[in-house]
Amino acid sequence: MSFQHPSFGSVSDDRVIIFDTTLRDGEQSPGFSMNLGEKLRMAHALAALGVDVIEAGFPVASEGDFESVRQIAENVDGSVICALARSGGKRDIEAAGEALKKAKRGRIHNFISTSPLHMKYKLRMAPERVLELIAEGNKQSRQYTDDVEWSAEDGSRTEPDFLCRCVETAIRHGATTINIPDTVGFATPDEMQAIFTMLRERVPGADRVIFSTHNHNDLGLAVGNTLASLEGGARQIECTINGIGERAGNAALEEIVMALRTRHDRYGLNTQIETPRLLSVSRLLAATTGFDVQPNKAIVGRNAFAHESGIHQDGVLKHAGTYEIMTPESVGWNSTSLVLGKHSGRAAFRDKLRALGYEEIDDATFAAAFKRFKELADQKKVVFDDDVRALVDEEGRDHDRVELKSLTLQGGTRHAAHVSLEMTVDGELRQVEAEGNGPVDAAFRAIGEAFPHEATLALFSVGNVTEGTDAQARTTVRLQEAGRLVDGQGSDADTVVSAARAYIHALNKLLVKRERRAPEELTV
Ligand code: KIV
Ligand code: ZN
Repeated sequence: MSFQHPSFGSVSDDRVIIFDTTLRDGEQSPGFSMNLGEKLRMAHALAALGVDVIEAGFPVASEGDFESVRQIAENVDGSVICALARSGGKRDIEAAGEALKKAKRGRIHNFISTSPLHMKYKLRMAPERVLELIAEGNKQSRQYTDDVEWSAEDGSRTEPDFLCRCVETAIRHGATTINIPDTVGFATPDEMQAIFTMLRERVPGADRVIFSTHNHNDLGLAVGNTLASLEGGARQIECTINGIGERAGNAALEEIVMALRTRHDRYGLNTQIETPRLLSVSRLLAATTGFDVQPNKAIVGRNAFAHESGIHQDGVLKHAGTYEIMTPESVGWNSTSLVLGKHSGRAAFRDKLRALGYEEIDDATFAAAFKRFKELADQKKVVFDDDVRALVDEEGRDHDRVELKSLTLQGGTRHAAHVSLEMTVDGELRQVEAEGNGPVDAAFRAIGEAFPHEATLALFSVGNVTEGTDAQARTTVRLQEAGRLVDGQGSDADTVVSAARAYIHALNKLLVKRERRAPEELTV
Protein backbone atom coordinates (compact mmCIF):
# COMPACT_ATOMS: atom_id res chain seq x y z
CA MET A 1 0.00 0.00 0.00
CA SER A 2 1.21 3.54 -0.60
CA PHE A 3 0.08 7.03 0.28
CA GLN A 4 0.45 10.44 -1.42
CA HIS A 5 2.15 13.08 0.74
CA PRO A 6 2.64 16.77 -0.19
CA SER A 7 6.36 16.71 0.65
CA PHE A 8 7.37 13.09 0.09
CA GLY A 9 5.18 12.10 -2.87
CA SER A 10 4.24 8.44 -2.81
CA VAL A 11 5.09 6.94 0.58
CA SER A 12 4.96 3.15 0.88
CA ASP A 13 3.57 1.54 3.99
CA ASP A 14 6.91 0.09 5.10
CA ARG A 15 8.62 3.50 5.16
CA VAL A 16 9.14 5.33 8.45
CA ILE A 17 9.56 9.10 8.26
CA ILE A 18 12.24 10.37 10.62
CA PHE A 19 11.35 13.74 12.13
CA ASP A 20 14.25 15.11 14.10
CA THR A 21 13.52 17.68 16.80
CA THR A 22 17.05 18.07 18.23
CA LEU A 23 17.00 21.76 17.28
CA ARG A 24 13.58 22.43 18.85
CA ASP A 25 12.53 20.05 21.65
CA GLY A 26 16.19 19.13 22.29
CA GLU A 27 17.50 22.65 22.15
CA GLN A 28 14.90 24.03 24.56
CA SER A 29 16.10 21.87 27.48
CA PRO A 30 18.47 23.36 30.09
CA GLY A 31 22.06 23.68 28.95
CA PHE A 32 21.40 22.62 25.35
CA SER A 33 20.75 25.98 23.72
CA MET A 34 22.75 26.59 20.54
CA ASN A 35 23.59 29.72 18.63
CA LEU A 36 22.80 30.32 14.97
CA GLY A 37 26.07 28.92 13.62
CA GLU A 38 25.81 25.81 15.79
CA LYS A 39 22.23 25.18 14.71
CA LEU A 40 23.12 25.58 11.06
CA ARG A 41 25.99 23.14 11.42
CA MET A 42 23.77 20.59 13.16
CA ALA A 43 21.06 21.03 10.52
CA HIS A 44 23.54 20.31 7.70
CA ALA A 45 24.72 17.20 9.56
CA LEU A 46 21.12 16.03 10.08
CA ALA A 47 20.33 16.51 6.39
CA ALA A 48 23.46 14.52 5.43
CA LEU A 49 22.37 11.81 7.87
CA GLY A 50 19.17 11.43 5.83
CA VAL A 51 16.66 12.84 8.29
CA ASP A 52 13.33 13.42 6.47
CA VAL A 53 12.11 16.39 8.53
CA ILE A 54 14.20 18.80 10.61
CA GLU A 55 12.20 20.73 13.19
CA ALA A 56 14.36 23.84 13.21
CA GLY A 57 12.72 25.88 15.96
CA PHE A 58 9.82 27.95 17.26
CA PRO A 59 10.09 31.20 15.27
CA VAL A 60 7.73 33.31 17.38
CA ALA A 61 9.75 32.64 20.56
CA SER A 62 12.51 35.14 19.74
CA GLU A 63 14.30 36.91 16.91
CA GLY A 64 17.13 34.39 17.32
CA ASP A 65 14.77 31.43 16.87
CA PHE A 66 13.15 33.12 13.87
CA GLU A 67 16.51 33.80 12.27
CA SER A 68 17.81 30.27 12.76
CA VAL A 69 14.69 28.72 11.21
CA ARG A 70 14.94 31.24 8.36
CA GLN A 71 18.60 30.48 7.68
CA ILE A 72 18.17 26.71 7.96
CA ALA A 73 15.22 26.93 5.55
CA GLU A 74 17.30 28.93 3.12
CA ASN A 75 20.54 26.96 3.32
CA VAL A 76 19.86 23.34 4.22
CA ASP A 77 18.83 21.02 1.39
CA GLY A 78 17.54 17.48 1.38
CA SER A 79 15.15 17.55 4.36
CA VAL A 80 11.77 19.16 4.91
CA ILE A 81 12.29 22.12 7.26
CA CYS A 82 9.65 22.47 9.93
CA ALA A 83 8.69 25.36 12.22
CA LEU A 84 6.62 25.06 15.39
CA ALA A 85 3.58 27.26 16.10
CA ARG A 86 0.64 27.17 18.49
CA SER A 87 -2.76 26.29 17.04
CA GLY A 88 -4.70 29.51 16.79
CA GLY A 89 -1.66 31.65 17.63
CA LYS A 90 -1.97 33.95 14.61
CA ARG A 91 1.42 35.57 15.15
CA ASP A 92 3.02 32.15 15.71
CA ILE A 93 1.80 30.93 12.34
CA GLU A 94 2.72 34.16 10.54
CA ALA A 95 6.24 33.93 11.99
CA ALA A 96 6.51 30.24 11.03
CA GLY A 97 5.28 30.93 7.47
CA GLU A 98 7.63 33.88 7.08
CA ALA A 99 10.66 31.97 8.44
CA LEU A 100 9.99 29.07 6.05
CA LYS A 101 9.54 31.24 2.95
CA LYS A 102 12.81 30.17 1.31
CA ALA A 103 12.53 26.46 2.19
CA LYS A 104 12.37 24.11 -0.79
CA ARG A 105 9.97 22.02 1.29
CA GLY A 106 8.56 23.62 4.44
CA ARG A 107 6.21 22.34 7.12
CA ILE A 108 4.25 24.21 9.79
CA HIS A 109 3.71 22.21 12.96
CA ASN A 110 0.75 23.39 15.04
CA PHE A 111 0.08 22.13 18.52
CA ILE A 112 -2.38 22.63 21.35
CA SER A 113 -3.10 20.73 24.55
CA THR A 114 -6.05 18.37 24.49
CA SER A 115 -5.98 16.56 27.87
CA PRO A 116 -8.53 17.54 30.54
CA LEU A 117 -5.71 18.59 32.90
CA HIS A 118 -3.96 20.84 30.39
CA MET A 119 -7.17 22.38 29.03
CA LYS A 120 -8.46 23.20 32.51
CA TYR A 121 -5.31 24.42 34.24
CA LYS A 122 -2.86 25.44 31.55
CA LEU A 123 -5.02 26.78 28.74
CA ARG A 124 -8.09 27.57 30.87
CA MET A 125 -10.13 26.78 27.80
CA ALA A 126 -13.28 24.80 27.09
CA PRO A 127 -12.85 21.79 24.78
CA GLU A 128 -15.02 23.47 22.13
CA ARG A 129 -12.63 26.44 22.01
CA VAL A 130 -9.69 24.07 21.56
CA LEU A 131 -11.49 22.54 18.57
CA GLU A 132 -12.01 26.01 17.09
CA LEU A 133 -8.33 26.86 17.47
CA ILE A 134 -7.26 23.59 15.85
CA ALA A 135 -9.42 24.45 12.83
CA GLU A 136 -8.26 28.09 12.64
CA GLY A 137 -4.59 27.19 13.06
CA ASN A 138 -4.56 24.55 10.36
CA LYS A 139 -6.51 26.72 7.92
CA GLN A 140 -4.12 29.63 8.44
CA SER A 141 -1.10 27.32 8.09
CA ARG A 142 -2.36 25.94 4.78
CA GLN A 143 -2.09 29.46 3.36
CA TYR A 144 1.70 29.05 3.63
CA THR A 145 2.27 25.35 2.86
CA ASP A 146 0.47 22.13 1.95
CA ASP A 147 2.55 20.28 4.51
CA VAL A 148 0.85 20.89 7.87
CA GLU A 149 1.35 18.84 10.99
CA TRP A 150 -0.95 19.03 13.98
CA SER A 151 -0.04 17.76 17.47
CA ALA A 152 -2.28 16.99 20.43
CA GLU A 153 -0.09 18.10 23.32
CA ASP A 154 -0.49 15.66 26.23
CA GLY A 155 -2.28 13.47 23.69
CA SER A 156 -1.59 10.23 25.55
CA ARG A 157 -3.59 11.53 28.55
CA THR A 158 -6.46 12.82 26.42
CA GLU A 159 -9.92 11.35 26.70
CA PRO A 160 -10.26 9.00 23.62
CA ASP A 161 -13.56 10.39 22.23
CA PHE A 162 -12.26 13.97 22.44
CA LEU A 163 -8.94 12.96 20.87
CA CYS A 164 -10.88 11.48 17.92
CA ARG A 165 -12.83 14.74 17.53
CA CYS A 166 -9.63 16.80 17.64
CA VAL A 167 -7.91 14.62 15.06
CA GLU A 168 -10.96 14.66 12.78
CA THR A 169 -11.07 18.48 13.03
CA ALA A 170 -7.35 18.75 12.32
CA ILE A 171 -7.63 16.56 9.21
CA ARG A 172 -10.76 18.33 7.95
CA HIS A 173 -8.93 21.66 8.15
CA GLY A 174 -5.83 20.63 6.30
CA ALA A 175 -3.42 18.64 8.48
CA THR A 176 -1.41 16.07 6.53
CA THR A 177 0.44 14.64 9.54
CA ILE A 178 -1.18 13.95 12.92
CA ASN A 179 1.18 13.68 15.86
CA ILE A 180 0.22 12.19 19.21
CA PRO A 181 2.82 13.05 21.85
CA ASP A 182 3.33 11.33 25.16
CA THR A 183 4.30 14.76 26.44
CA VAL A 184 5.02 13.78 30.04
CA GLY A 185 6.47 10.31 29.38
CA PHE A 186 3.60 8.59 31.23
CA ALA A 187 2.25 6.12 28.69
CA THR A 188 3.20 2.45 28.31
CA PRO A 189 3.95 0.78 24.97
CA ASP A 190 0.61 -1.07 24.76
CA GLU A 191 -1.23 2.20 25.43
CA MET A 192 0.62 4.05 22.67
CA GLN A 193 -0.05 1.24 20.22
CA ALA A 194 -3.76 1.24 21.16
CA ILE A 195 -4.10 5.02 20.61
CA PHE A 196 -2.93 4.75 17.00
CA THR A 197 -4.99 1.64 16.31
CA MET A 198 -8.06 3.46 17.65
CA LEU A 199 -7.48 6.66 15.69
CA ARG A 200 -6.94 4.79 12.45
CA GLU A 201 -10.12 2.79 12.97
CA ARG A 202 -12.40 5.55 14.19
CA VAL A 203 -11.44 8.88 12.62
CA PRO A 204 -12.87 9.76 9.19
CA GLY A 205 -10.05 10.73 6.82
CA ALA A 206 -7.42 8.84 8.84
CA ASP A 207 -6.33 7.02 5.68
CA ARG A 208 -5.29 10.36 4.09
CA VAL A 209 -2.72 11.37 6.74
CA ILE A 210 0.47 10.08 8.27
CA PHE A 211 0.30 9.39 11.98
CA SER A 212 3.29 10.41 14.05
CA THR A 213 4.50 9.54 17.53
CA HIS A 214 6.51 11.76 19.93
CA ASN A 215 7.66 10.22 23.19
CA HIS A 216 9.36 11.66 26.23
CA ASN A 217 11.58 9.49 28.37
CA ASP A 218 10.48 10.22 31.94
CA LEU A 219 10.03 6.51 32.69
CA GLY A 220 12.73 5.35 30.28
CA LEU A 221 10.05 4.15 27.84
CA ALA A 222 10.47 6.61 24.97
CA VAL A 223 12.05 4.21 22.49
CA GLY A 224 9.75 1.33 23.49
CA ASN A 225 6.71 3.58 23.12
CA THR A 226 7.92 4.73 19.72
CA LEU A 227 8.33 1.17 18.42
CA ALA A 228 4.94 0.20 19.81
CA SER A 229 3.34 3.21 18.08
CA LEU A 230 4.70 1.92 14.77
CA GLU A 231 2.91 -1.35 15.45
CA GLY A 232 -0.28 0.65 15.90
CA GLY A 233 0.22 2.18 12.44
CA ALA A 234 2.21 5.38 13.09
CA ARG A 235 4.66 6.00 10.25
CA GLN A 236 6.48 9.12 11.44
CA ILE A 237 8.64 9.15 14.54
CA GLU A 238 9.77 12.27 16.36
CA CYS A 239 13.12 11.89 18.01
CA THR A 240 16.42 13.60 18.82
CA ILE A 241 20.11 12.81 18.52
CA ASN A 242 21.41 11.29 21.76
CA GLY A 243 17.82 11.47 23.07
CA ILE A 244 18.20 15.06 24.28
CA GLY A 245 15.03 17.00 25.13
CA GLU A 246 12.78 18.34 27.84
CA ARG A 247 13.44 16.77 31.29
CA ALA A 248 14.53 13.13 30.71
CA GLY A 249 14.65 13.77 26.97
CA ASN A 250 12.98 12.45 23.83
CA ALA A 251 13.29 9.09 22.09
CA ALA A 252 16.84 8.70 20.75
CA LEU A 253 17.00 8.69 16.95
CA GLU A 254 20.01 6.37 16.79
CA GLU A 255 18.34 3.77 19.01
CA ILE A 256 15.08 3.63 17.07
CA VAL A 257 16.77 3.58 13.69
CA MET A 258 19.11 0.76 14.70
CA ALA A 259 16.28 -1.18 16.35
CA LEU A 260 14.33 -1.03 13.08
CA ARG A 261 17.37 -2.02 11.06
CA THR A 262 18.65 -4.76 13.35
CA ARG A 263 15.17 -6.21 13.90
CA HIS A 264 13.93 -5.85 10.36
CA ASP A 265 12.78 -9.45 10.72
CA ARG A 266 10.38 -8.28 13.45
CA TYR A 267 9.15 -4.89 12.18
CA GLY A 268 9.65 -5.02 8.38
CA LEU A 269 10.06 -1.21 8.32
CA ASN A 270 12.69 0.98 6.66
CA THR A 271 14.18 4.43 7.15
CA GLN A 272 16.42 6.47 4.88
CA ILE A 273 19.03 7.12 7.56
CA GLU A 274 22.67 6.60 6.58
CA THR A 275 23.52 4.71 9.70
CA PRO A 276 27.35 4.93 9.38
CA ARG A 277 26.95 8.65 10.08
CA LEU A 278 25.18 8.12 13.40
CA LEU A 279 28.28 8.25 15.56
CA SER A 280 29.71 11.38 14.00
CA VAL A 281 26.39 13.28 14.36
CA SER A 282 26.15 12.15 17.97
CA ARG A 283 29.71 13.35 18.63
CA LEU A 284 29.04 16.61 16.82
CA LEU A 285 26.09 17.32 19.10
CA ALA A 286 28.09 16.37 22.19
CA ALA A 287 30.94 18.67 21.15
CA THR A 288 28.51 21.50 20.39
CA THR A 289 26.57 21.28 23.63
CA GLY A 290 29.35 19.96 25.87
CA PHE A 291 27.25 17.03 27.07
CA ASP A 292 28.88 13.67 26.39
CA VAL A 293 26.62 10.65 26.29
CA GLN A 294 27.06 8.15 29.11
CA PRO A 295 29.59 5.36 28.32
CA ASN A 296 26.94 2.63 28.28
CA LYS A 297 24.55 4.55 25.99
CA ALA A 298 23.22 2.25 23.25
CA ILE A 299 24.79 2.67 19.78
CA VAL A 300 26.95 5.75 20.46
CA GLY A 301 28.29 5.28 24.00
CA ARG A 302 32.01 4.60 24.41
CA ASN A 303 31.29 1.07 25.73
CA ALA A 304 28.51 0.18 23.28
CA PHE A 305 30.79 -2.19 21.37
CA ALA A 306 33.50 -2.79 24.00
CA HIS A 307 33.77 -6.36 25.26
CA GLU A 308 35.45 -6.47 28.63
CA SER A 309 34.82 -9.96 29.98
CA GLY A 310 37.20 -12.67 28.82
CA ILE A 311 34.37 -15.00 27.87
CA HIS A 312 32.79 -12.33 25.67
CA GLN A 313 36.10 -11.39 24.06
CA ASP A 314 36.80 -15.02 23.29
CA GLY A 315 33.34 -15.43 21.77
CA VAL A 316 33.63 -12.31 19.60
CA LEU A 317 37.04 -13.40 18.30
CA LYS A 318 35.58 -16.76 17.28
CA HIS A 319 32.44 -15.26 15.74
CA ALA A 320 31.40 -11.59 16.13
CA GLY A 321 27.73 -12.61 16.14
CA THR A 322 28.13 -14.34 19.50
CA TYR A 323 27.89 -11.03 21.35
CA GLU A 324 27.42 -8.38 18.64
CA ILE A 325 23.96 -7.89 17.19
CA MET A 326 25.14 -5.21 14.74
CA THR A 327 28.58 -4.27 13.49
CA PRO A 328 30.35 -1.24 14.98
CA GLU A 329 31.03 -0.05 11.41
CA SER A 330 27.30 0.04 10.62
CA VAL A 331 26.91 3.00 13.02
CA GLY A 332 30.23 4.67 12.31
CA TRP A 333 32.69 3.16 14.76
CA ASN A 334 36.17 2.49 13.37
CA SER A 335 35.35 4.20 10.11
CA THR A 336 37.87 7.03 10.46
CA SER A 337 41.28 5.67 11.26
CA LEU A 338 43.36 8.57 9.96
CA VAL A 339 45.07 10.19 12.96
CA LEU A 340 46.51 13.67 12.52
CA GLY A 341 49.92 14.92 13.61
CA LYS A 342 52.05 18.02 13.19
CA HIS A 343 52.98 17.11 9.60
CA SER A 344 49.38 16.82 8.46
CA GLY A 345 48.45 19.47 5.95
CA ARG A 346 45.29 21.31 4.98
CA ALA A 347 44.00 18.52 2.72
CA ALA A 348 44.28 15.88 5.45
CA PHE A 349 42.66 18.26 7.94
CA ARG A 350 39.78 18.97 5.57
CA ASP A 351 39.30 15.23 4.91
CA LYS A 352 39.18 14.63 8.62
CA LEU A 353 36.56 17.34 9.09
CA ARG A 354 34.39 15.79 6.40
CA ALA A 355 34.75 12.35 7.95
CA LEU A 356 33.69 13.79 11.30
CA GLY A 357 30.51 15.32 9.89
CA TYR A 358 31.64 18.94 9.47
CA GLU A 359 30.37 19.07 5.91
CA GLU A 360 29.84 22.76 5.42
CA ILE A 361 32.54 24.81 6.99
CA ASP A 362 33.26 28.35 5.86
CA ASP A 363 36.77 29.43 4.86
CA ALA A 364 37.32 31.68 7.89
CA THR A 365 36.36 28.93 10.36
CA PHE A 366 38.51 26.44 8.47
CA ALA A 367 41.53 28.77 8.55
CA ALA A 368 41.11 29.51 12.28
CA ALA A 369 40.58 25.82 13.11
CA PHE A 370 43.60 24.79 11.03
CA LYS A 371 45.77 27.34 12.83
CA ARG A 372 44.66 26.03 16.22
CA PHE A 373 45.16 22.46 15.03
CA LYS A 374 48.79 23.28 14.11
CA GLU A 375 49.36 24.87 17.52
CA LEU A 376 47.85 21.84 19.22
CA ALA A 377 49.88 19.41 17.09
CA ASP A 378 53.03 21.19 18.29
CA GLN A 379 51.99 20.55 21.89
CA LYS A 380 50.69 16.99 21.42
CA LYS A 381 52.19 14.21 19.34
CA VAL A 382 48.88 12.91 18.08
CA VAL A 383 45.69 14.85 17.51
CA PHE A 384 42.63 12.61 17.96
CA ASP A 385 39.15 12.95 16.47
CA ASP A 386 37.76 14.36 19.71
CA ASP A 387 40.52 17.01 19.77
CA VAL A 388 39.53 18.08 16.26
CA ARG A 389 35.85 18.21 17.17
CA ALA A 390 36.62 20.32 20.23
CA LEU A 391 38.65 22.91 18.39
CA VAL A 392 36.43 23.18 15.30
CA ASP A 393 33.45 23.56 17.54
CA GLU A 394 35.04 26.56 19.24
CA GLU A 395 36.28 28.21 16.06
CA GLY A 396 32.83 27.72 14.51
CA ARG A 397 31.19 30.00 17.10
CA ASP A 398 31.24 32.83 14.64
CA HIS A 399 28.23 34.65 16.05
CA ASP A 400 29.71 35.05 19.51
CA ARG A 401 29.58 38.63 20.78
CA VAL A 402 32.22 38.12 23.45
CA GLU A 403 35.58 36.63 22.42
CA LEU A 404 38.76 35.74 24.27
CA LYS A 405 41.82 37.25 22.59
CA SER A 406 44.64 36.42 25.00
CA LEU A 407 45.26 35.27 28.54
CA THR A 408 48.55 35.47 30.43
CA LEU A 409 48.93 33.83 33.79
CA GLN A 410 51.35 34.15 36.69
CA GLY A 411 51.06 31.90 39.72
CA GLY A 412 52.67 28.98 41.46
CA THR A 413 53.61 28.47 45.10
CA ARG A 414 55.21 31.90 45.68
CA HIS A 415 52.77 34.32 44.02
CA ALA A 416 49.09 35.01 44.19
CA ALA A 417 47.49 33.99 40.88
CA HIS A 418 47.46 36.96 38.51
CA VAL A 419 45.78 37.07 35.10
CA SER A 420 46.10 39.61 32.29
CA LEU A 421 43.30 39.19 29.84
CA GLU A 422 42.22 40.69 26.54
CA MET A 423 38.78 40.11 25.15
CA THR A 424 36.44 41.79 22.70
CA VAL A 425 32.81 42.63 23.31
CA ASP A 426 30.94 43.35 20.08
CA GLY A 427 34.33 43.98 18.48
CA GLU A 428 35.56 46.45 21.14
CA LEU A 429 38.85 45.43 22.82
CA ARG A 430 38.90 45.31 26.64
CA GLN A 431 42.12 44.73 28.63
CA VAL A 432 42.02 43.85 32.33
CA GLU A 433 44.18 42.43 35.11
CA ALA A 434 42.92 40.46 38.11
CA GLU A 435 44.13 38.43 41.06
CA GLY A 436 42.30 35.51 42.63
CA ASN A 437 42.32 32.48 44.86
CA GLY A 438 43.99 30.33 42.26
CA PRO A 439 44.35 30.83 38.52
CA VAL A 440 40.81 29.91 37.49
CA ASP A 441 39.35 32.30 40.07
CA ALA A 442 41.66 35.05 38.80
CA ALA A 443 40.63 34.36 35.19
CA PHE A 444 36.91 34.45 36.05
CA ARG A 445 37.33 37.71 37.99
CA ALA A 446 39.10 39.22 35.00
CA ILE A 447 36.23 38.18 32.71
CA GLY A 448 33.75 39.68 35.17
CA GLU A 449 35.64 42.97 35.09
CA ALA A 450 35.89 43.10 31.33
CA PHE A 451 32.23 42.16 30.90
CA PRO A 452 30.23 43.02 34.05
CA HIS A 453 27.13 40.84 34.55
CA GLU A 454 24.79 39.52 37.26
CA ALA A 455 25.07 35.82 36.41
CA THR A 456 26.30 33.47 39.11
CA LEU A 457 28.39 30.35 38.70
CA ALA A 458 26.21 27.26 39.20
CA LEU A 459 28.60 24.54 38.02
CA PHE A 460 32.28 24.26 37.16
CA SER A 461 33.71 20.97 35.98
CA VAL A 462 36.94 20.00 34.24
CA GLY A 463 37.57 16.81 32.30
CA ASN A 464 39.87 15.79 29.49
CA VAL A 465 39.11 15.51 25.79
CA THR A 466 41.38 12.48 25.27
CA GLU A 467 43.80 10.43 27.39
CA GLY A 468 47.37 11.31 28.49
CA THR A 469 49.09 14.17 30.30
CA ASP A 470 49.20 16.21 27.09
CA ALA A 471 45.43 15.89 26.62
CA GLN A 472 43.35 19.02 26.18
CA ALA A 473 41.27 20.00 29.18
CA ARG A 474 37.53 20.31 28.54
CA THR A 475 35.70 22.61 30.93
CA THR A 476 32.00 23.15 31.48
CA VAL A 477 30.74 26.31 33.17
CA ARG A 478 27.08 26.70 34.08
CA LEU A 479 25.79 30.23 34.69
CA GLN A 480 22.50 31.20 36.23
CA GLU A 481 20.73 34.53 35.78
CA ALA A 482 17.09 35.37 36.53
CA GLY A 483 15.84 31.82 36.07
CA ARG A 484 17.94 31.27 32.96
CA LEU A 485 20.49 28.47 32.94
CA VAL A 486 23.25 28.14 30.36
CA ASP A 487 26.23 25.83 29.98
CA GLY A 488 29.40 26.90 28.21
CA GLN A 489 32.24 24.68 27.07
CA GLY A 490 35.88 25.35 26.43
CA SER A 491 38.85 23.21 25.56
CA ASP A 492 42.55 23.91 25.46
CA ALA A 493 45.83 22.23 26.32
CA ASP A 494 46.03 24.85 29.12
CA THR A 495 43.37 24.17 31.77
CA VAL A 496 42.95 27.86 32.74
CA VAL A 497 42.49 28.93 29.12
CA SER A 498 39.96 26.12 28.69
CA ALA A 499 38.07 27.39 31.77
CA ALA A 500 38.12 30.98 30.47
CA ARG A 501 36.81 29.84 27.09
CA ALA A 502 34.00 27.92 28.79
CA TYR A 503 33.02 30.95 30.89
CA ILE A 504 32.95 33.18 27.82
CA HIS A 505 30.96 30.62 25.85
CA ALA A 506 28.38 30.54 28.66
CA LEU A 507 28.17 34.36 28.60
CA ASN A 508 27.52 34.27 24.86
CA LYS A 509 24.74 31.74 25.34
CA LEU A 510 23.27 33.91 28.07
CA LEU A 511 23.18 36.87 25.69
CA VAL A 512 21.21 34.74 23.21
CA LYS A 513 18.88 33.51 25.94
CA ARG A 514 18.16 37.01 27.23
CA GLU A 515 16.48 37.74 23.89
CA ARG A 516 14.01 34.91 24.30
CA ARG A 517 10.67 35.60 25.89
CA ALA A 518 9.59 33.20 28.59
CA PRO A 519 6.88 30.83 27.29
CA GLU A 520 4.24 32.26 29.67
CA GLU A 521 4.51 35.64 27.95
CA LEU A 522 3.25 34.02 24.76
CA THR A 523 -0.50 33.79 24.91
CA VAL A 524 -2.70 32.00 22.44
O1 KIV B 1 6.08 16.97 23.96
C1 KIV B 1 5.25 17.60 23.29
O2 KIV B 1 4.04 17.51 23.48
C2 KIV B 1 5.77 18.51 22.27
C3 KIV B 1 4.79 19.09 21.31
C4 KIV B 1 5.02 20.53 21.07
C5 KIV B 1 4.81 18.32 20.02
O3 KIV B 1 6.96 18.70 22.16
ZN1 ZN C 1 8.12 17.14 23.23
